Amino acid sequence: MMKVTITSNGKSKTVSAGRGRSLIEILRQNHYEIYAPCGGKGTCGKCLVEVKGDGPVLSCNYYPVKNVEIILPDTEEANILTSQTEYLYDLPLDEESTIRLSPHSYGVAVDIGTTTVVMYFLDLRSGKIEKIASFINPQSAFGADVITRITHCQLNATGLQDLHQAIISALNREMRKFAACRNISTASFEKLTFAGNTTMMHLLLGEDPVSIALSPFKPRFTATRKLRGDTTGLSVNKEAIVVTMPSVAAFVGADIIAGLAALNVNQKNYLFLDVGTNGEIALVTGDEIFTCAAAAGPAFEGANLTCGMSARTGAISSFTGPGEYLVIGNSEPVGICGSGIVDIVAFLVANGIVDETGYMKDHYVVNHDNNIYVTQKDIREIQLAKSAIYSGMKILIKMRGLTFSDIDALFLAGGFGNYINIRSALQIGLLPEELTGKIYPVGNSAGIGALQYLKSNEFVKRTDMIKNKARYVELSNDDDFTTEFALNMSFTR
Ligand code: FES
Repeated sequence: MMKVTITSNGKSKTVSAGRGRSLIEILRQNHYEIYAPCGGKGTCGKCLVEVKGDGPVLSCNYYPVKNVEIILPDTEEANILTSQTEYLYDLPLDEESTIRLSPHSYGVAVDIGTTTVVMYFLDLRSGKIEKIASFINPQSAFGADVITRITHCQLNATGLQDLHQAIISALNREMRKFAACRNISTASFEKLTFAGNTTMMHLLLGEDPVSIALSPFKPRFTATRKLRGDTTGLSVNKEAIVVTMPSVAAFVGADIIAGLAALNVNQKNYLFLDVGTNGEIALVTGDEIFTCAAAAGPAFEGANLTCGMSARTGAISSFTGPGEYLVIGNSEPVGICGSGIVDIVAFLVANGIVDETGYMKDHYVVNHDNNIYVTQKDIREIQLAKSAIYSGMKILIKMRGLTFSDIDALFLAGGFGNYINIRSALQIGLLPEELTGKIYPVGNSAGIGALQYLKSNEFVKRTDMIKNKARYVELSNDDDFTTEFALNMSFTR
């Protein structure tokens, strides 16, 4: 056995480790968060840690053979959008939605994002939100996107358990923290509602997600699941009601149903777009709902980019020209997040540094001192991602015999929708220019949907109605999709 001394955020701890284990495995085993977008394949270069004496190493490729001391990069709070906007319902708590199992009754609505998790703690007696907690999904240590995490389940005997436990432990940690602050027991948590993509719902419940990634892409469940607290591993009342909201298909999840249900808008024909590690799209035309998932990859979350990172402190989040950029937390820039790369690409295209085909002669240096730059490969990643999303929207509206001009509004869900510069997104062809002036960021619609689901039986009925109406369109079966995808790769509009 070797001793591994780990220093994280100024605190050190020594753990024992057997030979033949990579540093990333040792870190995961000891519940340290490590950003590992490629899931430990050694291809993303993002899992760097400092080993005393050896300098920075990729933790997935480093196998200690003697006692070592390592220093982890400081972890930052996730920069997560939790807000309510005018486009989303804010319903009162209805009496029928509450239960009384303990002297203090709390409910928790949770949005499990692939990258970030948001928890709304609601007093079930007063209907008041007492706390909103957010943190990086600890499953990120096993990969940035759902496919990498599903592969981890497929290839490792304990894979599913690893991912299930990672999220359960993190949720329990937050609930214990909340209970300790208020001097109450965790038995006060009486009702929990969950939204998230289909894979996140499977991993939360410990259900094998492998069929989601294999043709014909059938999840084990899409319906609402209602469980008793003591069957879930969650630190809640044993009789608590734990509900996962319904999904549509393998890649159109409960986050989309929750988001659509939460939309409080008057428009008749509209698009709803959630850009995360996938582009999930819904088209609502009067009484009908069509959905699809565009395989955009995690480029807009910064994961596949050379200097990419998620929207945390140190990320360049907006860019208007050389030396003119904003950094989250007003700190030294460390990398570029999704909204930042959209701005940079728009600038490069507008100034002819990237041509219509996406060709760029040299790397573009964004910050010399900190070695932050954009490569040709990064431009290609953005082209693939933006074309997948634009083409997905186009296929849905074409299928209904409509054009973008017939669409009354495009609602953008989540943090990306909120922080992105819409002008840049139009310029690079991620969003259709016909919708200029009709694009509205709506905030964390999935989280707000889970919160309304916790508070209101009327909202539960609304959600069920949307689940029943929503039809799924498989883009890969659509002959036009490949043509659209190729056409929309370019930067001409
Ligand atoms: S290079 Fe180590 S996780 Fe990607």
